[in-house]
Amino acid sequence: MKKLSVMLVAGARPNFMKVAPLWRALRSSHRLRPVMVHTGQHYDFLMSDVFFRDLGLPKPKLCLEVGSGTHAAQTSKILSGLEKIFLKEKPALVCVFGDVNSTLAAALAAAKLRIPVAHIEAGLRSGDRSMPEEINRVLTDRLADLLFVTEPSGVRNLKKEGVPSSKIFHVGNVMIDTLFYHLTRIRRSPILRKLCLKPRAYGVLTLHRPSNVDSRASLRHILRILKAVTSRIPLVYPIHPRSYKKITAAGLWRDFKDLPDLRVIDPLGYTDFMKLTAEAVLVLTDSGGIQEESTSLGVPCLTMRENTERPVTLEEGTNRLVGTDLKKIITATDRALSKDHVKIRSLRFWDGNASRRILKILEKKL
Ligand code: UD1
Repeated sequence: MKKLSVMLVAGARPNFMKVAPLWRALRSSHRLRPVMVHTGQHYDFLMSDVFFRDLGLPKPKLCLEVGSGTHAAQTSKILSGLEKIFLKEKPALVCVFGDVNSTLAAALAAAKLRIPVAHIEAGLRSGDRSMPEEINRVLTDRLADLLFVTEPSGVRNLKKEGVPSSKIFHVGNVMIDTLFYHLTRIRRSPILRKLCLKPRAYGVLTLHRPSNVDSRASLRHILRILKAVTSRIPLVYPIHPRSYKKITAAGLWRDFKDLPDLRVIDPLGYTDFMKLTAEAVLVLTDSGGIQEESTSLGVPCLTMRENTERPVTLEEGTNRLVGTDLKKIITATDRALSKDHVKIRSLRFWDGNASRRILKILEKKL
């Protein structure tokens, strides 16, 4: 019997670790087969290729190479590119991941062609429409036929928005599947040796949200925060290309580079970044995914945002919302430095088996 093709659409760095476990699960299926599409939203070696290598993913057969652009330009290029691919390949299902522009564009292209859509990481809501990701989340969930949810808040949000329970599946977190799957390789990563770092003698910084890096005023405020934090603990900052561009454009690159005890390095691949995080005394971030990964690793996470779409990491994990409030950040830093790593309860379904649960449901539904 010919296997039905399930198209997995990925485009930006945070997608790749979510695609990998589902790709593996689908490869083991007797009825379904995965076909990977890369939209090319992220295209640098360090933002894309290195993840395919680290995660053991094959080179995608179908690539769009849309590259950077305004939101509308990027989204529309992906939309029209994917329409052609979907018309030609006629997948039985399109799977989209997370909340990036590629996610929404793929869901919209498929839905218009009446191809069923599965959204992995559905239902998350920050309630903050100033984030492009929030708009992508809300719209993708309106279009999706199967909504796979990571945490209880996702189920609640979708029900509140009127999504029928029959479409919602609380299956857990595929990104944590990837973390557990690669744990041995992560432990062996030589990154600490390469950077001459000692476990628990540094913190990790990641920053790329527009609210933090897009204006000179907010970057100057971030510099003040970093001065205060690095006077307590050195920070390693694998810098996102968008932040590098914004810092340079604001004329503040030297200020970041020359800050004692702030080590700015190139973005890291998956296993190196996870090792760096696992051995850190704290993480200071505005990322979405890192709030979840640090929770599963038991590392205190200070999230430099006013809200989170991942409230379970606050309720049961190691996450704290600190915004850009200097006092809150210092207090949370001092607390993290004075404690051993928190032993956390493992979160429901964040157990390495989310993609197997998804596969079971897909096999039943298709
Ligand atoms: C995107 C996602 C965001 C995610 C982030 C993680 C959306 C709306 N946002 O934001 O949710 O947290 O990825 O990385 O989809 N750039 C490069 N090289 C690359 C990729 C980007 O230089 O490989 C530069 C672009 O030229 C652009 C900037 O980074 O100036 C932004 O890239 P883009 O993909 O539009 O959005 P991100 O800010 O990375």
